[in-house]
Amino acid sequence: MNTDITVQVDGTRHRLTIDTRTTLLDALRERLGVTSPKKGCDHGQCGACTVLSGGRRVLSCLTLAVTQDGARVVTAEGLAAEAATADVRHAEGQLAQGQHADGDLHPVQQAFIDRDAFQCGYCTPGQVVSAAGMLDEFARGWPSAVTGGTEAPELDRAEVAERMSGNLCRCAAYVNIVPAVQQAAAASTARRAAGTEVGE
Ligand code: FES
Ligand code: FES
Repeated sequence: MNTDITVQVDGTRHRLTIDTRTTLLDALRERLGVTSPKKGCDHGQCGACTVLSGGRRVLSCLTLAVTQDGARVVTAEGLAAEAATADVRHAEGQLAQGQHADGDLHPVQQAFIDRDAFQCGYCTPGQVVSAAGMLDEFARGWPSAVTGGTEAPELDRAEVAERMSGNLCRCAAYVNIVPAVQQAAAASTARRAAGTEVGE
């Protein structure tokens, strides 16, 4: 059975007629040519297919495309533009929280380069999208399985490992991925503080 959906992907609106069994991952890769989300396992085990839908992390291999009718999907390819949009909304005082970009890269992408946080790069698009979503969750005060007490947790190695545990790296680049996420978190915190000052 086919159905029509309209979905925005990395800022571009698409209208698709798709089989209702089609996953979001296959719709992105096979129908729209958006290949940054990778098909690592196709079973929700590796995180290589992670995208943002409505700002939240989702595994596109486990998400039926029909559920994304009207959704705003962001992949690694659109992450920097998304952050740049947040920049403008911050400057206009329209955004309470969010992330900024310096230049062309999202802060998470820049941190992955600065920290050499990849080897083959296959998992990297999913890692950076997941990290961007995770940092937003963290900024909103969402707890994790390792968060203790009621005070705001520190984004230490254990917190990063837990919050990014859905993203596997077969090259085992974790030793650099964790510092990269922490660097991006520090950059985001500083920018949020600056944005608050601008908005005041
Ligand atoms: S391809 Fe989706 S979790 Fe592995
Ligand atoms: S960098 Fe190769 S799988 Fe992660």
